[in-house]
Amino acid sequence: MNYLVAYISKTGTTEEIAKRIAKLLEERGDTAQAMPISTIGELSGYDRIILGSPVNGMKVLPEFDAFCKEKALASRASKDLFMVSYIFEKGRPMWKKALQKEKTRLSELLGARSAEIFGGRIDKEFPGFARFIFGTPKNLPLDIRNWEAVEAWAKNL
Ligand SMILES: Cc1cc2nc3c(=O)[nH]c(=O)nc-3n(C[C@H](O)[C@H](O)[C@H](O)COP(=O)(O)O)c2cc1C
Repeated sequence: MNYLVAYISKTGTTEEIAKRIAKLLEERGDTAQAMPISTIGELSGYDRIILGSPVNGMKVLPEFDAFCKEKALASRASKDLFMVSYIFEKGRPMWKKALQKEKTRLSELLGARSAEIFGGRIDKEFPGFARFIFGTPKNLPLDIRNWEAVEAWAKNL
């Protein structure tokens, strides 16, 4: 199988996850490359495309949304989606619901085989008012990526 992991990343978190997924696929004997969406031209030749974006404002980045609609949809490869969020796991239920809704929207749009929301990273601790709004606990580490969850998902791709 020839895989493409197409990602967008503002601060490197999603990029590292995309590269880890591609590495795992290669290690098991498939062909895989991780590429930022801004550098992707033709999508032909791939059997499966894994699409990844961080969440900002409870939504994937607009450039990523456009890439999905304009390019990925036109490809006949099967598709999978992952989103990277700081708030999903520990935040208030209303944000969890909003993130689930965004995942469902995009996953249905793409006809994705699977879709997942992974924990991400922030650069510095949220101030108190943001913790209150989002509902994240005070001692939550800045990097909440769960590599076991990423690898478990990648194994099933
Ligand atoms: C401006 C900004 C807005 C964010 N908004 C959200 C959000 O609405 N929900 C959420 O779960 N995480 C949010 N995050 C957290 C990041 O999406 C997340 O931690 C991710 O790891 C960042 O990925 P990247 O390094 O690939 O850009 C936000 C981060 C930034 C910098």
